[in-house]
Amino acid sequence: MTDDVALGRSGLRVPRLMIGCWAWGDERYWSYRREQAGGLLDAFDVACDGGLAAFDTAEVYGDGASEKILGFFTRRHRGAVQVATKFGLLPGRTASTLPLALRASLRRLGRARVELYQVHWPDQRMASVVSLMDALADAVADGLAVAVGVSNFSADEVRRAHAALARRGVALASNQVRYGLLDRAVERDGVLDACRELDVTLLAYSPLAQGALSGSYDASTRPTDRRATEPWFAPSALTAATPLVSRLRELGAARGVGPSEVALAWTLRDGVVPIVGCRTGAHAAAAVRARSITLTVEERDELSRLA
Ligand SMILES: NC(=O)c1ccc[n+]([C@@H]2O[C@H](COP(=O)([O-])OP(=O)(O)OC[C@H]3O[C@@H](n4cnc5c(N)ncnc54)[C@H](OP(=O)(O)O)[C@@H]3O)[C@@H](O)[C@H]2O)c1
Repeated sequence: MTDDVALGRSGLRVPRLMIGCWAWGDERYWSYRREQAGGLLDAFDVACDGGLAAFDTAEVYGDGASEKILGFFTRRHRGAVQVATKFGLLPGRTASTLPLALRASLRRLGRARVELYQVHWPDQRMASVVSLMDALADAVADGLAVAVGVSNFSADEVRRAHAALARRGVALASNQVRYGLLDRAVERDGVLDACRELDVTLLAYSPLAQGALSGSYDASTRPTDRRATEPWFAPSALTAATPLVSRLRELGAARGVGPSEVALAWTLRDGVVPIVGCRTGAHAAAAVRARSITLTVEERDELSRLA
């Protein structure tokens, strides 16, 4: 890959865009059905062939099913594949249960190590930031993770995580948070600034607002899975987003691509790495195309205003 990016100061480099696997095998939220497995394999193959062989999963996605499916695909693939997964502070968990959870993830994935191991969300009542970072540093020392990161951490929590890992001589690679045209909270709440200041890569999840920006949905055509309960899929929110989606569509048409590629290109800024959920080959092909789309400053500003 020529246009890959450094993940903070961890030494790990990843493609400018990563592929999200939450929907893979997840029945509860994404209404996954076995018939969709072929689409997932297409997504995996198209992403790898297009230079985006970097996948984000988590032990909680489909209660382990996402890791198992990704592991199955990576084992039959000849080239190198980068895998990021996450430790969840589920009931009964503490920082001392992290090594067991990591080994269980590695078993499901069928690999000796992951490229990136992340704490999925903070919960001070269950584990302090320092104890979690100590456990992550141990994972690096034991060779089970190449790099480590956090997810859904506030600016203050990122600072504390960064400092705790630095004391162990380990770099905090990333903070994975929700970021895209329809959710720009990290621009205001200090998270983006803290990541920039500390050289921690911001991994942007749900960059298409789970498909609300893709042009596939409107007030009369809403998802039939649990996404329908999310605020951005409320009929009024979809109607309000119509001018934005129309403009994404126009800017895409001028480049021979769809609205999703343009929405992803908007997120590709200042070292931000979007993670886009793909469950078909067409989704992955669009992610591959998005990597090489550039927007002018005026276009980017116009989209920000419309959002
Ligand atoms: N750390 C966390 O707490 C956290 C939370 C959420 C997500 N994540 C990660 O981020 C990843 C992405 O987030 P997400 O899946 O919630 O949201 P997303 O990437 O914004 O949306 C994914 C959905 O967008 C639609 N889509 C994608 N590409 C498209 C294309 N080219 N054309 C038309 N529609 C397209 C698809 O909807 P249809 O399937 O309806 O076509 C797809 O399921 C997840 O898979 C996961 O790895 C992490």
